[in-house]
Formats: sequence, structure tokens, C-alpha cells
Amino acid sequence: MSKITVVGAGNVGATAANVLSIRGVADEVVMIDIKEGVSEGKAMDMMQTANLLDMNTRIKGVTNDYEATKDSDVVIITSGIPRKPGMTREELIGVNAGIVKSVTESVLKYSPNAVIICVSNPMDTMTYLIHKVSGLPKNRIIGMGGALDSSRFKYYLSQELKANPNEVEGMVIGGHGDTTMIPLKRFATLRGIPVSEYLSEEKLDKVVADTMVGGATLTKLLGTSAWYAPGAAAAEVAEAVLHDQDAIIPCSALLDGEYGEKDLCVGVPCLLGKGGIKKIIELPLNEEEKELFRKSSEAVHKTNDALPK
Ligand code: NAI
Ligand code: 2OP
Repeated sequence: MSKITVVGAGNVGATAANVLSIRGVADEVVMIDIKEGVSEGKAMDMMQTANLLDMNTRIKGVTNDYEATKDSDVVIITSGIPRKPGMTREELIGVNAGIVKSVTESVLKYSPNAVIICVSNPMDTMTYLIHKVSGLPKNRIIGMGGALDSSRFKYYLSQELKANPNEVEGMVIGGHGDTTMIPLKRFATLRGIPVSEYLSEEKLDKVVADTMVGGATLTKLLGTSAWYAPGAAAAEVAEAVLHDQDAIIPCSALLDGEYGEKDLCVGVPCLLGKGGIKKIIELPLNEEEKELFRKSSEAVHKTNDALPK
């Protein structure tokens, strides 16, 4: 029996649970939250779509009961506060660090072999914190940010190209922050053809800029941070791991010399499958991209320095 736990049944967590269940990724999906009744209610609501959607996943919602999460294969951590308009992800660090630390400890007590996917912001720093508090092998902790940012990049590219987003390939690496992410325009393609064949440098730079503030744009419109694409992106990462897909998805991974960085979690292309991160893929970055990656890493290091000691 396969089992995924989603910690935090808020906007992103519940969306991830819903996507995972509809896609039938795991036999069982458990949502856990501290708010009395929320997980239970959302699980019941989702289960009432089972016959409508021909869904066979067993969805369970609990309040604070970690025993119900026992023996999960994958745990997605979304608990914490989201950003409000005008806030950066980095401003969430104080509150979210305490939540992520205690949740990690509780989850591992019941699922010592789980692969952990961190979503809570500031995500790269929270992923690093999970490494520090858990001491787990580095392949088993994955930060979700690049999957979302890449999907936004492909969306904005598709708008400029007037193409189906499914025909577009592209990747965002670096930190999951408005000023730290690096949409790799040089590697983006429309069905294998470099997008530079269709879009001017000026248009490509606009796509890059729009992608970088993609989260902030939605936060302004919605009054809180987005959830459909973030939830689906977390589900994509969980599916790649649980189904041993050997999918290449940019994720925040603990670097140990790759890309010239150490003791840092930041977005890099990862080969995902059984056990989590099977391999970090080193892209042939040019000098300009290397410099962007160095600056991005420096900023993430700075945010890590703000972690409560
Ligand atoms: P939300 O407020 O809708 O949901 C968060 C949930 O966590 C709430 O239901 C809350 O009760 C719960 N929670 C708080 N403390 C908890 C604890 N100790 N144990 C269990 N549950 C707890 O927020 P939303 O929009 O779902 O965002 C969740 C987090 O994900 C935020 O930190 C947000 O910034 C981050 N995020 C990250 C993205 C990424 O790409 N990495 C994308 C979108 C959001
Ligand atoms: C997002 O990118 C705020 O991380 C959140 O939507």
C-alpha cells in the first residue's frame, strides 16, 4: 500500500492532496493540520467526489494525530503562513521555521523512511532547516519551488509564443524568490526548437521578468499566495518519487560542491525517483548564468543566516 501525507490542509496542501487523489498517485492520502475539523472536512468533501470522478484513493483528514500518518512513503510539508500582498517569502522565516522544525520531528517519528518534500516558505531555507533538524540522507529531502516556477515560465512563454503550454519546455533554477530565481531562457524550447527562433531578446527578457514576479502577481490579485499551480507542482514532485519516474525536475537540493556551492539548498535540476533525488544534473551554464547562480546562492545563504539559532 502506498501512502502520502500532506502536512497543512490549507490552500496548497489541500490542492496537492486533491490532485494526488484524482490522479490516483497513492492508495492513501492523509491530510493533517492543527485547525480542528479542517482536514477532516476537506477529506470528506474530496471523498464525496470519488464517485463523480471515478477516484479510488482513500483520503483521510486528521487534527494533530501523527499516528494516522504512520508509514508514509512521501510527506509533503505545506504548514506555515503564506505571504500577503507586499510581503516577500523571506519575511515568513521566523514563524515558519518553528512550524517546519516541529512538524519534521513529528512526521519522522512515525515515518522514519519517508521522502520529505518541503513547500513552506522561504522554501530553500526551510528545506535546509529540515536537513539540519533531521540529519536524513540528502537525497530524501526535496524542496519544491522550481517545479512551480518552471511551470509559470512555460506559461508566460506560451503566452508570448501564442502556443499550447504543453508544447513548451523550460526550466527555472536558483532560489525560489522574486529576485533569486533564474529562468533559463537559453535552454527553453517550443517542441525542441529554441524559443529564440521565435521571440526577440526583448520579449524573452519580459517573459523572464514576469516569471520572476509570477508569485507576487498572483498574491496581489488573490490577497494571499496562489495554490492551484503550487499544489499541482508539489503533487508532480511526489508522483515522480513514488512512481520512480526518473523525471528531471528542478528542485531545491542540498549541494555539496555541485555548481560550486556547498552547505546550501537551492534549485537545480534533479533526477527524481525511488528514494528521492537520484542525481543532481549539472547544466553547462555560460558565464552570465553562472554569475546569476552565484548571486542567487549568496542571497539564499543570507536568508539561511536569519534562521533562529
Ligand atoms: P494556508 O494558510 O492556506 O495553509 C497553511 C496551513 O498550515 C493552515 O491550514 C494552517 O492551519 C496549517 N498549519 C499551521 N501550523 C501548522 C502545524 N504546526 N502543523 C500542521 N499544520 C499547520 O497557506 P498556503 O497558501 O497553503 O501556503 C502554505 C505555505 O506554502 C506557505 O508558507 C506558503 O508561502 C508556501 N508556498 C510555497 C510555494 C512553493 O512553491 N514552495 C508556493 C505557494 C505557497
Ligand atoms: C508562490 O510562488 C508564494 O511561493 C509562493 O506562489
